[in-house]
Amino acid sequence: MNKKDFIHLQQVTKDDVGKILQKAKDFHRGTIKVPLFFEQKPVLSTFFLENSTRTKLSFQKAAMDLGLHVLPFEIGSSSINKSETIEDSLRCIEEMGVRLCVIRCKEEELLSELAAKTSMSIISGGEGTKSHPSQALLDAATMLNHFENLKGLKLSIVGDCKHSRVAHSHMDLAKLMGIDLRFCGPDHFLSDEQALAKISVEEALESSDIVMMLRIQFERHQNSFDTKDYLREFGLDELKLKNLNPSCKIMHPGPFNIGNEITRPVVESSQSLIWEQVKMSIPTRMAIINDCLEGVL
Ligand code: CP
Repeated sequence: MNKKDFIHLQQVTKDDVGKILQKAKDFHRGTIKVPLFFEQKPVLSTFFLENSTRTKLSFQKAAMDLGLHVLPFEIGSSSINKSETIEDSLRCIEEMGVRLCVIRCKEEELLSELAAKTSMSIISGGEGTKSHPSQALLDAATMLNHFENLKGLKLSIVGDCKHSRVAHSHMDLAKLMGIDLRFCGPDHFLSDEQALAKISVEEALESSDIVMMLRIQFERHQNSFDTKDYLREFGLDELKLKNLNPSCKIMHPGPFNIGNEITRPVVESSQSLIWEQVKMSIPTRMAIINDCLEGVL
């Protein structure tokens, strides 16, 4: 693995993923002493050009737990609103001594371009519809709290898969780790590659180890569409929960839209791992930051 940056799962090996997930497990169980970087106190900045709650705050918390300083970049009050370029804004924080920068952006391929121009470690906080690798890894860390292995695990992703960066990173992860990945949703919510692994909602509910629900990514759609029957046809509500295999777990990367793709009783049901995913974001992102720091310190 390129130790400096963490941008796509296409850049990592099965072995790299295994090491990050093992380290996440160790951080989660408290078997590694933290903070690890109290003496050097490197600085991490969160540079989010799109909205976020979970990713931004959990990277900040993970960095603090490792003993790093955190310098949040707030786009709303930044000089990007006075026409400064992203490149010059990043150069500013690099000159201030930031060593790692977690970036979320709309443009695909931007992170690799930025990483080539800076000595800072560039960590993806989500890139367009293309990828959200740290989310896929924290989902995997959550799965491993409940299942022995990722290999052969039947994971059905339901909803707006085509516009979901999380779904795309799960496709990368599935190829690396041998997860049996299937997709469910209206045809216009599936890419050509996803359509090849399409199953019905009924089949997903009956035969999956995990059903992962996705929010409709309204902000990435060009045309508006009717969502009146979406919950009944493709969402997960109390009625469908009754037909769900009792051993099947429910996941959702968040944010969820109650009443659109999921209902509150489903989020809070005993089969739901949705809040556990948020909890696992901290040790997983600690493991990712720890790896990248080895490349820049
Ligand atoms: N799952 C996820 O990326 O959530 P946020 O948009 O809140 O960071």
